[in-house]
Amino acid sequence: MILSLVNVKGGVGKTTTAVNLAATFAASDLRVLLVDLDPQGSASFSLGIDRDDGEASMADVLVDGVPAREALRPTEIEGLDLLTGSMELAGSELGLARKRDPHLLLRRALQPVRRRYDAIVIDCPPGLSILTINGLAASAAYILPVVPHDLAHEALDRFFGGWERLERSLRAKPRLLGILLNMVDKRTHLTTAMVDQIRQSYGRRVFRAEIPINVRLAEAPAYGMSIFQYERWSTGAQAYRLLGAEVLRRARTAGIL
Ligand SMILES: Nc1ncnc2c1ncn2[C@@H]1O[C@H](COP(=O)(O)OP(=O)(O)OP(=O)(O)O)[C@@H](O)[C@H]1O
Ligand SMILES: [Mg+2]
Repeated sequence: MILSLVNVKGGVGKTTTAVNLAATFAASDLRVLLVDLDPQGSASFSLGIDRDDGEASMADVLVDGVPAREALRPTEIEGLDLLTGSMELAGSELGLARKRDPHLLLRRALQPVRRRYDAIVIDCPPGLSILTINGLAASAAYILPVVPHDLAHEALDRFFGGWERLERSLRAKPRLLGILLNMVDKRTHLTTAMVDQIRQSYGRRVFRAEIPINVRLAEAPAYGMSIFQYERWSTGAQAYRLLGAEVLRRARTAGIL
């Protein structure tokens, strides 16, 4: 299973979800690879790995054609490997665009290593840049995290509008595995109203599991830990365990796992 976390909007929980989902998969005894496609390298940072420590990163793989196998590295979490993000990805757009089939670079790069893993989770940067398109084109499915506030609907529409146009031209067809409601604050009326509205508009496309606002989720990255290493009984950890199980169920039903 190859799965991307995407949204045109920033700060909605793509990275938090990529890291903690990857950790739940590893805890379920799956062999997991986390691919950090974001020049910010937040997913790598969240696992305690310095993105620019001189080791091979995603920039070397995508721009310079270094084999992915040479850039893989183990993490503190058993069963979880990482391909690190890198600042150098930030300036790579033009370089990538000049290559043949620039949207298929990641897909090709993962080809020789994908059999080593049961699940590959790709953390995409915000937007629909060439990097995100590479993530989507390499994936069997994607998850769209949203924060239920006033612009959430617009972000979803913008994503679906932009992606449908691209999908046609790229002939890549990853399926939407689910929309994830993140940073849900049940104490505010606005959030509850938006959650209802999004569930009404998107129905079964929305995961049943919701991730609450939980300060532990925001703290864990600074310690280089997943939520399960940092505070395994927090509400955030419990929510991600439920989500992990739901994602695996949906993936099996969809025949991609
Ligand atoms: N459920 C949550 N509760 C509390 N804080 C959260 C939660 N989800 C995410 N955060 C925090 O919100 C911020 C944005 O989350 P995250 O980095 O996962 O979003 P992103 O979509 O990957 O952002 P970007 O688009 O910049 O890559 C981070 O500081 C993260 O720790
Ligand atoms: Mg991120």
